[in-house]
Amino acid sequence: MKKLPKSILFTIVLAIFLTSFLLMLYYGKETFYVEKQISSQQLYDYHFALITEEVGNDYWRQIENGAKEEAAKHNVYLEYIGPRKSDNEEKLQTFDRMISSKVDGIITQGMPGERFKALVHKAVERGIEVITVDTDVPQSERQLYVGTDNYKAGFSAGQAVIKDTEGEIKVGAVVGMYDALNQQERLQGFKEAIAETDRIELVDVLESNITEIGAAEATYSLLKQHPQINALIGMSALDGLGIVQGIEEIHLGQTPYVLSFDILPQTLEMIDQGKIAATVTQYPTEMGKQAVSRMVDLQHGRKVEPLQYTGTEIIRAKDINNGEIIRKGEGS
Ligand code: BGC
Repeated sequence: MKKLPKSILFTIVLAIFLTSFLLMLYYGKETFYVEKQISSQQLYDYHFALITEEVGNDYWRQIENGAKEEAAKHNVYLEYIGPRKSDNEEKLQTFDRMISSKVDGIITQGMPGERFKALVHKAVERGIEVITVDTDVPQSERQLYVGTDNYKAGFSAGQAVIKDTEGEIKVGAVVGMYDALNQQERLQGFKEAIAETDRIELVDVLESNITEIGAAEATYSLLKQHPQINALIGMSALDGLGIVQGIEEIHLGQTPYVLSFDILPQTLEMIDQGKIAATVTQYPTEMGKQAVSRMVDLQHGRKVEPLQYTGTEIIRAKDINNGEIIRKGEGS
């Protein structure tokens, strides 16, 4: 047999060598990557999911920040997850998915309806602890609730309107979502507070879809349909800002009294400018922190109180300086 010339032989050997080398690099990287993923998961002691009403919402971002800060202290991997736009169906599906992925604990906004309760039951049966945050569902098997006493917060909003106004007051209310339990509780509290006087009447309620633009549109409709409205109240974090916009668009002779919820920076600015008279504070960062801390307690089998209220107050212009709260308002 004729011998192959040396140069061809060399090329063949080199080609085989290069191919094996490239294959080794490719498969080696894949293996290495998987190993790295596993080891980063193993770095954490627990995996908790925080299910939000809306991922990008500023109020929920504050809950996330508090939760992440606390998670870092306890070596917890915290997954912040939920719909881009508020959507109960999507939240319920996320809840179910988190149960299937066997997280150690689920912190979630309480949702209306039987399916939510059934999912809490399913989680608990599988040994997954559940904490409600921001909105409670006490009839479910959740271990505890961390957040505002929403009925009481609504009641204090009603008391603030009584205190701040004189004469006949016709109120238009903007709620985030009609079916959100915390909005229903706040509204109920508000109605019961103003029932103490016959000078104040709630005329109509419209929803904003928890957006500023939605609240502006709702305000516009309220004022068009009921020209006698001389006070507006916003029951979720962006409603007060939308109410101010709606009022500015309609150019009224007399500016209505405005009360809002929450202390996002833009809301405090509106209070400073005299466009919002008062706001009901909530402490979302604190909610996030406490929810994670209690979840860690549950993982260790420690006893926890089923209701952990984070408190609310009424803040007015005199309590703010340069966009900062300088003194505690009235407790609720
Ligand atoms: C409520 C949250 C809601 C948020 C919307 C807050 O006042 O507590 O439930 O998601 O407003 O912006």
